[in-house]
Amino acid sequence: MKLAIVQTNPIFGNILKNVEDALGLMNSVEANLFVLPELFNTGYNFQSQEEVKELSEDDSSFTMQTMIEFAKKKSCYVVFGYAEKVICDQYKKQRTTNQEQSTINHEPSYYNSSALIGPEGIIGKYRKVHLYYREKLFFTPGNLGFPMFDLPLGKIGMMICFDWFYPESARSLALHGAHLIAHPANLVLPYCPDAMITRCLENKVFAATTNRVGVENRNDINLTYIGTSQVVSNRGKILARCSDDKPEIVVVEIDLMQAENKRLNEFNDLLADRRPEQYTL
Ligand code: ACM
Repeated sequence: MKLAIVQTNPIFGNILKNVEDALGLMNSVEANLFVLPELFNTGYNFQSQEEVKELSEDDSSFTMQTMIEFAKKKSCYVVFGYAEKVICDQYKKQRTTNQEQSTINHEPSYYNSSALIGPEGIIGKYRKVHLYYREKLFFTPGNLGFPMFDLPLGKIGMMICFDWFYPESARSLALHGAHLIAHPANLVLPYCPDAMITRCLENKVFAATTNRVGVENRNDINLTYIGTSQVVSNRGKILARCSDDKPEIVVVEIDLMQAENKRLNEFNDLLADRRPEQYTL
């Protein structure tokens, strides 16, 4: 399969331009799966819950519908990060003086999510489990676990940016059978690109870490993103790595079936040799 990593430079709050810029890159190549950065349509450096409210999207919104249209037109798959608005109609029991009254809580939840889109529409979602830094002020921690999606291309799982810091994320996906970890990111620390080599080696999976470039200086919170989006093989080899400062798209041809093989030698099978009863989990 042909895997494209789409490194962009979003302008905070300008969803139309950010989606248009990503599509410009995506339309310039042929690929079976495109992986975009975390929060690629909104930007990352939120300053208030009001901004999250205003820029978050549900399934019927612009970014989702535009990506579905692209996937249909190109017969391909897309993974992208966005701020997801979820209306949860939770019944709240309220006791009044002499009767119990049911009211509906229409307050939405907001997740730092990624969506997996195919020609048939929305295939699945992931909601970031390990929130980083000021994300904790604005987003609800993910509640979907680390699901795996069995596509004609191979088995795909998702994690988002800081999830790499927790080896449990990639391990969960490997245990679910994922061949490829699609990893939208907005990296500000320098460690992830090299650390992902270990995540891939220790799970014998492929990973596509797609980061953004540029700076976001908002209300004295200054963030600089490190680019260096990359594809790493199931043997821990860097198959492609982007620049640290330019929007670009890189396509890599990979054989995901290689990730089925967890054998290291005639004695060792990576996952079968685990000793969960000896671990403190
Ligand atoms: C991050 O999780 N965006 C660093």
